Amino acid sequence: MTRERGVRVHKVAIWGAGTMGRVHAGCYQRSEEGRVAYVIDQDLGKAQELASTCGALPTTDPEAALTDPEVDVVDVCLPTYLHRESVEQAARSGKHVLCEKPVALSTEDAKAMIDTCRACGVKLGIAHVLRYFPEYETARHMITSGELGHIGTVRLSRVGPFPRGWADWYADEGRSGGVLLDLSIHDFDFLRWCFGPVDHVYARKVRNDRPLEYALVVVRMKNGVIAHVEGSWAHPGPFSYRFEICGSSGMIEYDSLKSRPLSVATAVSPGGGNGEAAGGSGSGSGDGGGTPGVAVPESPLRDREPYLREIREFLAYVRGECTPRVLPEDAVAALEISLAATRSACTGKVVSMG
Ligand SMILES: NC(=O)c1ccc[n+]([C@@H]2O[C@H](COP(=O)([O-])OP(=O)(O)OC[C@H]3O[C@@H](n4cnc5c(N)ncnc54)[C@H](O)[C@@H]3O)[C@@H](O)[C@H]2O)c1
Repeated sequence: MTRERGVRVHKVAIWGAGTMGRVHAGCYQRSEEGRVAYVIDQDLGKAQELASTCGALPTTDPEAALTDPEVDVVDVCLPTYLHRESVEQAARSGKHVLCEKPVALSTEDAKAMIDTCRACGVKLGIAHVLRYFPEYETARHMITSGELGHIGTVRLSRVGPFPRGWADWYADEGRSGGVLLDLSIHDFDFLRWCFGPVDHVYARKVRNDRPLEYALVVVRMKNGVIAHVEGSWAHPGPFSYRFEICGSSGMIEYDSLKSRPLSVATAVSPGGGNGEAAGGSGSGSGDGGGTPGVAVPESPLRDREPYLREIREFLAYVRGECTPRVLPEDAVAALEISLAATRSACTGKVVSMG
């Protein structure tokens, strides 16, 4: 960490120069308190390309960044199956680590990562960015404040084209975990954030070799709420997401494809109207069919950039200025729901979460 014009500036090494590495690099550039000092990638050309956009040093050798005493944060944007080894290596080098979701492919790996970071005295953040999307923040606020009354049902959907990452790693379930672990985990984390623990899940999934993957999960929360979670990597595009949350006093709906994406209807609304409210305009976008890459959700409420706010909050946490809204244990709990849903999809049986 250094100081620039009175501001403490974190020197960051981004590990992985793919889709998320690029998104994170853009956020550090827009922040006052983070500078990308290194871009690490096994492909030097990709590291050079990204590093040139942010004045960083490109390297294929992680040690070059991990041994630099000025670097205090490592931002892991590698494929999921590499999260454990890279997070632990960074932690053992004394660096704080922000790691993309999902935390890992197994709870054993995830817990080992948390233990290693604790033992090394460094902070670990898992980038469950949905918690920073203003529409989901609004929904959670309306749920937890009681504005929607007693919640009965929740429908969550997240659909897009099949992601195409480096070496087609998303297509290998052993490396990505498939749609339930990679994509629907956003919605599982949201459910837990709003309603607490899950009682049981029942999932069905189809997959073919094109590849296409679609999953539908019924989640029963311990507090009685019933949720449907749809995740699709079989949609022609663009990437989109929706929710509908119904309570005894009202309903909040969101659809990233609509020009007026957010609507709220409550029985008694402030001001005595019919309770309709709209969010910002614009539509979510992602990669359409045929474009290589991974669809990255974009909030249509663009004035509150979720990825930037997520990164800034992690840096503030590193400086000891705040408690993060996503604890590593939250990421483990979301992973456990994904794994339970995956087990249910494989066996065709309801999986109880105790
Ligand atoms: N939060 C979100 O909205 C969101 C969206 C998409 C992906 N993700 C997650 O982000 C992570 C990265 O996904 P992505 O789509 O950016 O992947 P990607 O395939 O686009 O990029 C991965 C990069 O890692 C590099 N790489 C692979 N093996 C390496 C190694 N051993 N050493 C150094 N570099 C190596 C590749 O060359 C590539 O540049 C995944 O965990 C994914 O689930 C999160």
